[in-house]
Amino acid sequence: MKTYHVITFGCQMNERDSETIAGMLEDMGYVYTEDPKSADAVVLNTCSVRENADKRFFGVLGQLKNPHEARPGMMVCVCGCMMQQQHIIDQLKAKYSWVDLAFGTHNLASFPELFKNASSEKKHIIDIWQEGRAISEGLPAARAYDFKAYVNIMQGCNNFCSYCIVPYTRGRERSRRPEAVLSELRQLAASGCKEVMLLGQNVNSYGRARSVEGSYCAETDEPHLDFAGLLREADKIEGIERIRFMTSHPKDLSDDLIDCFRDLKHLCRQIHLPVQSGSTKVLKEMNRVYDREKYLSLVRKLREACPEIAISTDIIVGFPGETEEDFQDTLSLVEEVRYDSAFTFIYSVRQGTPAAERKDQVPEEVKHERFNRLIDAIHRIQEEKAEQYRDAELYVLTEGFSRTDDTMLTGHTESGRVVDFPGDPSLIGKMVKVRITKPQTFSLYGEVIGQEA
Ligand code: 5AD
Ligand code: SF4
Repeated sequence: MKTYHVITFGCQMNERDSETIAGMLEDMGYVYTEDPKSADAVVLNTCSVRENADKRFFGVLGQLKNPHEARPGMMVCVCGCMMQQQHIIDQLKAKYSWVDLAFGTHNLASFPELFKNASSEKKHIIDIWQEGRAISEGLPAARAYDFKAYVNIMQGCNNFCSYCIVPYTRGRERSRRPEAVLSELRQLAASGCKEVMLLGQNVNSYGRARSVEGSYCAETDEPHLDFAGLLREADKIEGIERIRFMTSHPKDLSDDLIDCFRDLKHLCRQIHLPVQSGSTKVLKEMNRVYDREKYLSLVRKLREACPEIAISTDIIVGFPGETEEDFQDTLSLVEEVRYDSAFTFIYSVRQGTPAAERKDQVPEEVKHERFNRLIDAIHRIQEEKAEQYRDAELYVLTEGFSRTDDTMLTGHTESGRVVDFPGDPSLIGKMVKVRITKPQTFSLYGEVIGQEA
C-alpha cells in the first residue's frame, strides 16, 4: 500500500486545500502516514504571508532531500502561495531541482493528472497558472474531522492592502454559487458535522465581484444572496449547531451582517475583525479603506446588536513609517476595544507589494520592542477577560485531546476560547456542557456537567 503525507503551512484556506489534496491522493489509492520521510508521496502546501513561513518551508523541504534520494519512486510535491511567485520558482529550479512536482494555487484541480504524469514519466514538472478560473466543484476531500469542517465560500482577494502578498498569490476574488455552498453544508450536516467555519479572504464581500468568468455574482445571478443572505440560509440547515466565518474586512461589514449576530440561532457570537493598526495615518497607507473611528464604530454596533460577542483581531506592528505615536494609537485602540484575543505580527517585507518599496522601513529592534509591548497589553486584557468565565456554564464541542495534557479533552466555547476538561474519549465529537473552574489567559479549565441530547 502506498502512503502519503501532506504538510501544511499558513492559514485555514491552506488547511482546507490540503484536505482536497489528501482526498485526491486517497482516490489514487494512497493511505495516510504520520511520517513524511517514509511516505511514498509528500506534498508541501506553502504560505507566503510572512518571511518566516518561506524560511520554514525551505527548511522542511531540505530535510526531504536525503529520503528522496534514498528511495527512488518517492514523490515530493510543492504547491500553494509561494509557488505563485517567480523568485521562488527560480530558487526551486536552482537549488531544489530534485523536487518532482510544483503547482500553484490556481491549478489544484489538476493535481491528480500532474502527479500521475510526474510519477509515471519520472519528469520534473512545474505548472503554475497566472490567474484563477471559477472555483472547481466536486473535488474530493479527506477532512481532518467529521464533526467540524472548513467550507470555502470564495477564493482570492481584490483588496490589495499595501503590505499583503495574498492578492498576487491567490488572484482575484471568486465566489462559489450559493447552492454549491449550501448543498455542501447539508451533506456535512447529514454526515454528523456540527460546526462549520465558512472561509474566504474577505467573506463580507461574498458574491460582490464577478472578477472571474463563471463565478457567482449576487447582483445579477439568482438567487441574489450576499454574505448575510448566505448566512441566513445556512442557519436553517438542521444539524449544523455552530456557524463561524473568517475573515471579515471591516470596510465591508454591513449592518445586515451585524444583525445576523442578533438574529441567527446557530451563528456563534464571535467575530474575527482584523484592524491591522490603530492609526488612521497607517491604515490609509495600508490601503485598508477605513479609519480608526470607523473601526471603533463597527465595534460599538456589534456590541449593541450582541453584547456578549467575542471580538478578535490581527495587528501588524512596524509597518513602514510607523512612528511611536502611531504605535500608541494601536495600543490605545487595543485598550478601548478590549479584544478577546489577537494575532500580532511583525511587519514582514513581501517582494512585489507597494509597502516593500518604501524607504522608511522600521528598524528590526524597534519592531520587536513594539511587538513586546503590544502582546503584554493584549495578554493582560485576555487574562482579565478570562476571569469573566469563572463558574460559567457553557457548551463546548469536544474536539480531541488537549495539546498541553493528553489525559484531558479539549474544545472551544462558542466565543472561541479553548477549554480543557477531564472526560471520557467517547465524548469526542459531542457537544458537552462544562462549568469553568479555573480560567487562564490562553485556556479555561472546566468540568463536564452535562451533555446535549
Ligand atoms: N507582514 C506581517 N503581517 C502580515 N499579514 C499579512 N501580510 C503581512 C505582512 N507582510 C497579516 C495580517 C493579516 C494576517 C493574515 O497576516 O495581519 O490579517
Ligand atoms: Fe491581504 Fe488585505 Fe486581502 Fe486580507 S484583505 S488577504 S490582508 S490584501
